[in-house]
Amino acid sequence: MKLLVTGGAGFIGSNFIRYMLKHHDDVEIVVLDKLTYAGNLDNHRGLEQDARYRFVRGDICDSETVEPLAADCQAIVNFAAETHVDRSLLEPGAFITTDVYGTYILLEAARRFQVPTFIQISTDEVYGSVETGSSVESDVLEPRSPYSASKAGAEMMVRAYHVSYGVPVIITRGSNNFGPYQYPEKLISLFSTNALDDEPLPIYGDGMNVRDWIYVEDHCSAIDFLLTHGKPGETYNVGGGNERTNLEVTKLILRYLNKPESLIQYISDRPGHDRRYSMSCSKLQSLGWRPEHGFEESLEQTVCWYRENEGWWRKIKSGEFADYYRRNYAGRQLDESP
Ligand code: NAD
Ligand code: DAU
Repeated sequence: MKLLVTGGAGFIGSNFIRYMLKHHDDVEIVVLDKLTYAGNLDNHRGLEQDARYRFVRGDICDSETVEPLAADCQAIVNFAAETHVDRSLLEPGAFITTDVYGTYILLEAARRFQVPTFIQISTDEVYGSVETGSSVESDVLEPRSPYSASKAGAEMMVRAYHVSYGVPVIITRGSNNFGPYQYPEKLISLFSTNALDDEPLPIYGDGMNVRDWIYVEDHCSAIDFLLTHGKPGETYNVGGGNERTNLEVTKLILRYLNKPESLIQYISDRPGHDRRYSMSCSKLQSLGWRPEHGFEESLEQTVCWYRENEGWWRKIKSGEFADYYRRNYAGRQLDESP
């Protein structure tokens, strides 16, 4: 099977490529990635020698680049996106361009070349904040940040291409992923690397916001599973079943690194900060998929990976990251804990 994996140089995409090459001898993977600040060929170290892997640098918004790659693939798996909520609050434009328009360009290519499967990697954030209960796939979408709105927009276009043109699409809504090769702007990768440097861990608001965490390898196994078991036109929630407050996650990171809780620093809240995400995953589980990795063990392994792969994240943190960090965090420190 030949797969076109867009956004494959990012966190989940690169883990997905490793997962597929490891579990399927007959898979061939073409990666299309623009290499934005979040794309990183260091995430592919060791893969270059594999004859089943090819990398193309390019933009999913550019149909001339996309079409020849789509023409002879059996599936497109679209990971390419702007993905960080805080950056979407600072500069939303790129989110609309890549996440919505870029997805449209891929769908057009899938339609034109009759690609047998199109998987859109979406997010639980499209449901908006879920104060009680758990979201099911048929719930109304109520995105609340420019990021989640752009992902919901992409989903609408994906669904429209199925209804209007019969493109065989599948949408996955993943919860918060963690694991190796995550750009150190997200909670777990940022806090692990800050703690290793004895830098403050900036918690937004009261630290009681809840996320459902999934180990990245479980997310990858779900996508692989859906490539063969998913039904065209359907949407599937993909969660880990590990709802934790940010404060709980932060304290575990500090414990695994043997660092003091005095590194925790409360800062002003993220605007529009969704309080809780929670999904029911019974639709996917009824097909036979289950997450295999426990939260605490995988978190400890992940934190150790950042400790043992300092070279990987130091290179990132010394570049564009420093400017972003200043823009997002400067002047937000609270005088008293909430
Ligand atoms: P990431 O930010 O680590 O990687 C995104 C990748 O997309 C990068 O390699 C980047 O270079 C590439 N890219 C961006 N714009 C592009 C363009 N115009 N053309 C081609 N490539 C482009 O993201 P991630 O965390 O790996 O997320 C991957 C996908 O999974 C995204 O669609 C995201 O919305 C979704 N998702 C992420 C999570 C999570 O917790 N990280 C959870 C659910 C869903
Ligand atoms: O839920 C899936 C989504 O998870 C994905 O679709 C997104 O691409 C991904 O970025 C992630 O979004 P979140 O906003 O939930 O992830 P983030 O790691 O940015 O934040 C997790 C929680 O931690 C959230 O409640 C905000 C909080 N946080 C985050 C950072 C970066 C802090 O308190 N301080 C921080 O510095």
